[in-house]
Amino acid sequence: MTVINKPAQRLSDLGVSTADQIPPLFAEVRARFDAESASAHDESSWKQFRDAWLGRKSGVLTLITDNWLKPSSPELKRVVGQELNQLRANVESQIESRRAAIEAGADQAALARERVDLSLPGVARPIGSHHLIRQVFQQIEDIFVSIGFSVVEGPEIETPYYNFEALNIPEYHPVRDDMDTFYLDLPKGAATPLLLRTHTSPMQIRTMEKRQPPVRVIVPGKVYRRDNPDATHSFIFHQVEGLAVDTDITFCDFTGTIEYFLKQFFGAGVKARFRPSYFPFTEPSVEFDVTCVFCGGSGTSAGGGTCSKCKGAGWIELFGAGMVDPAVYGFVKYDPKKVSGFAFGMGIDRLAMLKYGIDDIQVFFQNDVRFLRQFP
Ligand code: PHE
Repeated sequence: MTVINKPAQRLSDLGVSTADQIPPLFAEVRARFDAESASAHDESSWKQFRDAWLGRKSGVLTLITDNWLKPSSPELKRVVGQELNQLRANVESQIESRRAAIEAGADQAALARERVDLSLPGVARPIGSHHLIRQVFQQIEDIFVSIGFSVVEGPEIETPYYNFEALNIPEYHPVRDDMDTFYLDLPKGAATPLLLRTHTSPMQIRTMEKRQPPVRVIVPGKVYRRDNPDATHSFIFHQVEGLAVDTDITFCDFTGTIEYFLKQFFGAGVKARFRPSYFPFTEPSVEFDVTCVFCGGSGTSAGGGTCSKCKGAGWIELFGAGMVDPAVYGFVKYDPKKVSGFAFGMGIDRLAMLKYGIDDIQVFFQNDVRFLRQFP
């Protein structure tokens, strides 16, 4: 008969009738308890062990109380009560210390499992880099900032007033044909049509409306035109506008500034020239060229044939510019008799293509990493 079964029986059934028979009985129970205690080695076996001894309905202590203590005669009851109290104290404290030990062990195991090995190499997170267009913007900004220009930006959605009229381009002016663009679908009755700006020149107007001379700004940004995509055309591209207005700005200041920029940007070896051109908002207007960056201006390729980039001319057309047309000052309430200045608008995609020998503008917009990675 096992010890567990003894508490399930009454003392009289166990043949116990005198007080001196009781301590050995409890000693037996305690020995059993100690033996079982060792098998409680993890959380679930510990719970079983705890319930077997302290369970309210059929735990060993409850059985002893019900079967041994309660039915006993008063003189046996005293001894059983004493022994039971000792047993209970022992059982409770042992079970608690097993729990603490198991928990500490589990903590130890978790610590070992989750330990961070600081000697392992870290996770390499690739860091992106700037798109080539953004890099070229930055180069141009650095050059102009170094000679006193500041950088401003403006909206890509414009009104016809800023994109055209205030730049001295009235509604039926033929240059609007070159600047056909995208108009926004607006609710009926909208105050003014809205369009995607065709150039950064509207920021000339917005800047002069806000500031009094001297004004020296450059305006990097995106522009849009309804061009069909090919190697040199895209319906979205990038420009940097420049505007300098003061009381004493001459044509020499203008060409000197542009030449300085071109040498900084392409290298001291390039030469610049300008040819007459036409823009409604500059007068006189010019077109700037640089000596061909591919053949060094010779017009002859390394192999001896005609340079394919400049088609033998030795020069490459760059961008439009000019002295601000006095009519424009009228729109911004500057006094054309007191101020003078120059403006330019360069296509960044084109400058980047020339500087880095890229022959298709579309690569800037395709985001093919094989292209992008060449310009980290
Ligand atoms: N806005 C003109 C264009 O996009 C360029 C330009 C700017 C010309 C400023 C003269 C002065 O073609």
